[in-house]
Amino acid sequence: MAAELSALNGLDFLSSADLNGAQTQALLTLAADIKAGRRNPRLDGKVLGLIFSKASTRTRVSFTVAMARLGGQTIDLNPSVSQVGRGEPIEDTARVLSRYLNAVAIRTFAQSDLQAYADAASIPIINALTDLEHPCQALADYLTMQEAFGSLEGLTMTYVGDGNNVAHSLLIAGALLGVNVRIGCPAGFYPLEKVVDQAKAIAAGRSEIVISEDPAEAVRGAHAVYTDVWASMGQEEEQSTRVQAFRGFCVDESLMRHADAKAIVLHCLPAHRGEEISAEVMESSASRIFDQAENRLHAQQALLATLLGAEG
Ligand code: CP
Ligand code: NVA
Repeated sequence: MAAELSALNGLDFLSSADLNGAQTQALLTLAADIKAGRRNPRLDGKVLGLIFSKASTRTRVSFTVAMARLGGQTIDLNPSVSQVGRGEPIEDTARVLSRYLNAVAIRTFAQSDLQAYADAASIPIINALTDLEHPCQALADYLTMQEAFGSLEGLTMTYVGDGNNVAHSLLIAGALLGVNVRIGCPAGFYPLEKVVDQAKAIAAGRSEIVISEDPAEAVRGAHAVYTDVWASMGQEEEQSTRVQAFRGFCVDESLMRHADAKAIVLHCLPAHRGEEISAEVMESSASRIFDQAENRLHAQQALLATLLGAEG
């Protein structure tokens, strides 16, 4: 294990900011090595718990398959069939699970609930998406960008749409990796100011962090154009007002004309074709969206191997 990564053994991954730049880059390298078959870390006998209070296809399946490939197992602790859903305190649940499991990946609403698990647990807690961040997603996203261009050096990632959890982790992880990150979003849907300030502090002038209300300006010359749904899980009632507010922020062929000629298109999925992205762009040769979904598996194998101190 690279020296940068061995320091992460036993730690939580609650935010993209829990890693430094060297660690983030080393995780991407390990993920690429695992994907190419150059590395085969082992977690035989280790067990990961999954507590998901929101729907998931990719995150749930990729964590489960990642543990299987590493030689370990996963237990699905769906809140509706565990005592979590009946109100057992987070602190008690976390302490008990620490006696059985080697790590827990949690998808929930409030970052403070995730933090409460981490504070009470003695095993690594992993953010599998909260309202604030989606740090495992950002690892797969920058792995996909690195694969497409060979290196992240001098690249620009533009995210068009809602300044949400996915945008927040892209900002922080991009800053750590020295990537320029631009967010094109309508007024009222900016990423949180504290996250933008955090990304700017991390970038420290090494790369640019820019927020713009003009999607064409944000996309100009970008190497990756990324979008996500306009209404995230928990915001379903705002769907119709958001469709109005985000008019002009669809990633379609006319918007893509402003990007670099070799630009790739990314989307964390699930997608709403005809809203945040056109069907044509999703299926275009620039789209790396399904490679990106696959990379969740490789990035999370690297993350689990690192946090659980895998051999090999
Ligand atoms: N991108 C992502 O996290 O997908 P799921 O909601 O299906 O896990
Ligand atoms: N922003 C979306 C991402 C889904 C993977 C949500 O939180 O619902």
